[in-house]
Amino acid sequence: MSGATSRIPIMFNPLSAGFMEDPHPHYTEVRRHAPVHENPGGFWMVSRYEDVETLLRGDHSVDKRTARGATDSGRPQRLKGLALIDQDPPHHTRLRKLVSQAFTPRAMSGIEPVVRALVDEALEELGRAGGGDLVEALAFPLPFAVITRILGMPEVDTVRLRELTSLLIRLGEPGAGSGAKADIEAADAEMVELVSDAISRKRRARGDDLLTALIDAEDDGDRLTHDELVAQVAMLYVAGYETTVNLISGGILALLRHPEQLDLLRTTPGLERNAVEELLRYEPPVHLARRITLHPLLMAELTIPAGSVVLASLAGANRDENFWGPDADRLRLDRENARRHVTFGGGAHYCIGGGLARIQGRIAIGELVRRFPDLEQAGEVRWNGLLSLRGPARLPVRI
Ligand code: HEM
Repeated sequence: MSGATSRIPIMFNPLSAGFMEDPHPHYTEVRRHAPVHENPGGFWMVSRYEDVETLLRGDHSVDKRTARGATDSGRPQRLKGLALIDQDPPHHTRLRKLVSQAFTPRAMSGIEPVVRALVDEALEELGRAGGGDLVEALAFPLPFAVITRILGMPEVDTVRLRELTSLLIRLGEPGAGSGAKADIEAADAEMVELVSDAISRKRRARGDDLLTALIDAEDDGDRLTHDELVAQVAMLYVAGYETTVNLISGGILALLRHPEQLDLLRTTPGLERNAVEELLRYEPPVHLARRITLHPLLMAELTIPAGSVVLASLAGANRDENFWGPDADRLRLDRENARRHVTFGGGAHYCIGGGLARIQGRIAIGELVRRFPDLEQAGEVRWNGLLSLRGPARLPVRI
């Protein structure tokens, strides 16, 4: 550890008191006192807005094998490492081009009525019941149904697919525990089987959807191998699912905790778009992004050596007062530059589904607030226990 950091005992520690209930005071303390530090957990962390942007936009790797001291032996699974989120150029460039064709603004405008219909249905049910758990009633089923629709998945065991997705997300979290490896392998193998089965059925009933487009890419010689195809489908569930769940449920919770902002949203026509940006900034569904430095990086007068694992604190950068000003810690739905948050990352791996998440957030949160003027929390929130994908697992409301 370098001398500059050893003088400062404060560093990122998700086990610190109160972190699960509200991690932001800790992120702020770390950003202020150890904005760039080497952590005993075996990684570096950068927290300031500018440093996070520099790291994510820089010419670094996302492939764990490039880290100093990494071995290949820890990667027995078929899915791991093949999805574009884990790939460097030239593979990344090729895969991203294929997958992003389903996420163009034009494709997204076609999906908006689908989202609206699903939200309508969920809210009608919630209305009939007089309230309920918002996570189970709206935030969970919506993104799952939407990505299933975009892919054009044939009939599969959706209950099991949802369970496997949740399991893979949980097991992939930092600090998932030593017992996690065998569980990951088992969940991974089952996911491969389930997706492969969906692919073979799709071959017999093609459609105008992402899965058919990816199958065509597989058929077209060496553009996409079968394992790569399976990995992209699994990744879309994993990357697009719990993230959007947290945007909706975490966003609504933030509004319930700031009634004056909830009122502002209800009474200001057209504020939904900016409100979603501010909610994404204030309560980012993904807290951390990871890079492996390909060359030494000078930050805060410290040199991060090549081959280091570096975590970018997206949650920390989103509240950096040097960038956002003295009210960085406040939720302000009409914040002019809210859209400049780093919640979707940056650089070559910038989130492919940002547009889709925004549509779902805008419609789900906007409609809920508009339809139910007496919306209120009706019990304790239960957190999902995840570190990077932290969000409510249960949010009871009355309407
Ligand atoms: C609010 C919801 C979401 C958040 C906060 C979010 C966040 C992120 C972040 C931070 C990254 C960059 C990771 C990195 O740089 O290492 C990312 C990448 C990605 N996201 Fe999202 N995401 C969301 C929704 C979605 C959705 C709905 C989809 C698709 C269905 C999706 C698909 C992807 C993919 C495929 C990548 C990898 C892109 C690449 O490596 O080139 N995300 N997301």
